[in-house]
Amino acid sequence: MRDPKRVAILISGRGSNMRELVEQAKDYEVVLVASNKPLAAGLDWARTHGLPTWTWDSKIVAKEPWDQALSQALDDHRVGTIALAGFMRILSPGFIAEWRGRIVNIHPSLLPKYRGLDTHQRAIEAGDAVSGCSVHLVTEKLDAGEVLGSVEVPIAPGDTPDSLEQRVLAAEHLLYPRILSEFVQR
Ligand code: GRF
Repeated sequence: MRDPKRVAILISGRGSNMRELVEQAKDYEVVLVASNKPLAAGLDWARTHGLPTWTWDSKIVAKEPWDQALSQALDDHRVGTIALAGFMRILSPGFIAEWRGRIVNIHPSLLPKYRGLDTHQRAIEAGDAVSGCSVHLVTEKLDAGEVLGSVEVPIAPGDTPDSLEQRVLAAEHLLYPRILSEFVQR
């Protein structure tokens, strides 16, 4: 039985949002950390902290079998909510349909502005006064599902994509655990 309060986090890299989701977990439990990159730094952190992990290098396998294997691992752990956190892979429409309404993601912009990559550079180049981050439902369309919560971060004069990224990341670390707690209860 899928239990909404049993959360899997999907990562591809350093996993700083994953760490915050684990350390600030309230109303939900992180029961699995999964990655398409066996060497993702975040996996080491998860293992060190006693969390079950699952990984299969997505470079060596086709999309559908990878997604099916992940789905099986999620069901083995009775996962009911999937939190993407720096997961740099597009999930197949079949997987998204199977988990419809149960996958969330954090994105470093004020959606619907700047879907996709290079959000900080695009916000600075556009001359925006504010940027921010958003937690949204994952649908077949990239970064386009219902926004569950967002927070604004002012863009300072002289900000570079790197300096803005750091401040937005700090905001992500507060926003994501809060919205996930609300989401697993709705
Ligand atoms: C974050 O900026 C997140 O918004 C984006 O990818 C980055 C992941 O960073 N989707 P981390 O792996 O959580 O540190």
